[in-house]
Amino acid sequence: MTAARLAEDDARRKRGGPVRRHYNRASFFSTTRSTPPMRIGPHLLVNSLFAAPMAGVTDRPFRQLCRQLGAGYAVSEMVTSKRELWNSLKTSRRADHEGEPGPIAVQIAGTSAQEMAEAAAYNIDRGAQIIDINMGCPAKKVCNKWAGSALMQDETLAISIARAVVAASAPRGVPVTLKMRTGWCQAHRNAVTLARAFEQEGIAMLTVHGRTREQGYKGQAEYDTIAAVKAAVAVPVVANGDIDSPEKAREVLARTGADALMIGRAAQGRPWIFREIGHFLATGEHLAPPLVAEVRRLLLAHLEDHYALYGEFTGVRSARKHIGWYVTGLPGGEAFRRQMNTLEDSAAQWQAVADYFDALAAHADRLPERAAAPASLAAIEEPHDAEDA
Ligand SMILES: Cc1cc2nc3c(=O)[nH]c(=O)nc-3n(C[C@H](O)[C@H](O)[C@H](O)COP(=O)(O)O)c2cc1C
Repeated sequence: MTAARLAEDDARRKRGGPVRRHYNRASFFSTTRSTPPMRIGPHLLVNSLFAAPMAGVTDRPFRQLCRQLGAGYAVSEMVTSKRELWNSLKTSRRADHEGEPGPIAVQIAGTSAQEMAEAAAYNIDRGAQIIDINMGCPAKKVCNKWAGSALMQDETLAISIARAVVAASAPRGVPVTLKMRTGWCQAHRNAVTLARAFEQEGIAMLTVHGRTREQGYKGQAEYDTIAAVKAAVAVPVVANGDIDSPEKAREVLARTGADALMIGRAAQGRPWIFREIGHFLATGEHLAPPLVAEVRRLLLAHLEDHYALYGEFTGVRSARKHIGWYVTGLPGGEAFRRQMNTLEDSAAQWQAVADYFDALAAHADRLPERAAAPASLAAIEEPHDAEDA
């Protein structure tokens, strides 16, 4: 990306004209083949670093950014199995896969085997190439209705959901994957029992977040149960939880023997973590922090995509959290975040971000090295829930 092109885009933006996306195909492919490719059913993924589904975060613009920056796969935010909500604005935004590199993976959440099977079929009709069942989310609204990780407490229901969703998807050539926790609580870590049963029902890949439902996001993720799941089944197993640096990624791979890693909160405001991890796993060396000019370009393009998906009113407000994550730990970042939160139109917000990064670029070429975990990692107690279940 030349400075001239950046300046030209800024000028277009000020005129209110469209700004081009800056996906560079050559660098996309050179950075994504960093870990061995892996398969989910018929789909060959370019590597085994996955972006976690995060409701309210991993929308289509953010997923595309993660893919561009080294994630081999990205699962959508959960969508509800409740038919009456399928046409709502929120669910239809979550079902937006325009221009997304495949395979398109849609995560569904719900409590009834029949409704979940219908939701799978509905999403396959709308382009889903992989269906992921959510048995990992601890959000109260979901759990009170026995969805998300609460399902792990009712093994019979959990297994019947897996069976019904596979029955609806397999005949159409669509693999079904499932994301769960290590168990319901410390005393009931039933991930291994359930993993064996899910494999029997035809689940093609299992992701395990190394916490119990009871833990929410507190404490540390543990990896022994993930290792036990990996040892118990033949389908690919994905390790998830607290992976926030290249070294941690290497450690989790070694401790679990997992086939892939899934990263959530550490990618917030730092989507280039995938290429950093990929490069480290492939070479044992660290990449330099990204250039300020690159982050400026990525974030401004991210905002363009974000406004286009959510519209002016919602877009400006929901972009604030992303911008806040990007500037966490950067010089003047906290003051900028507070000031930016007062802006209420997209042009002003976009320009403030451009100006902030211009000022940063005047002092340094690259982002400073940051502590491994962004401030938000430990702070998140309860994620958004599906609209929903
Ligand atoms: C804001 C937020 C929203 C989330 N939404 C979902 C979701 O929709 N579906 C799901 O399976 N997990 C969801 N999760 C859990 C993540 O996918 C992941 O399992 C968890 O954050 C642990 O990984 P990490 O330590 O890399 O963040 C969410 C997490 C957060 C922080």
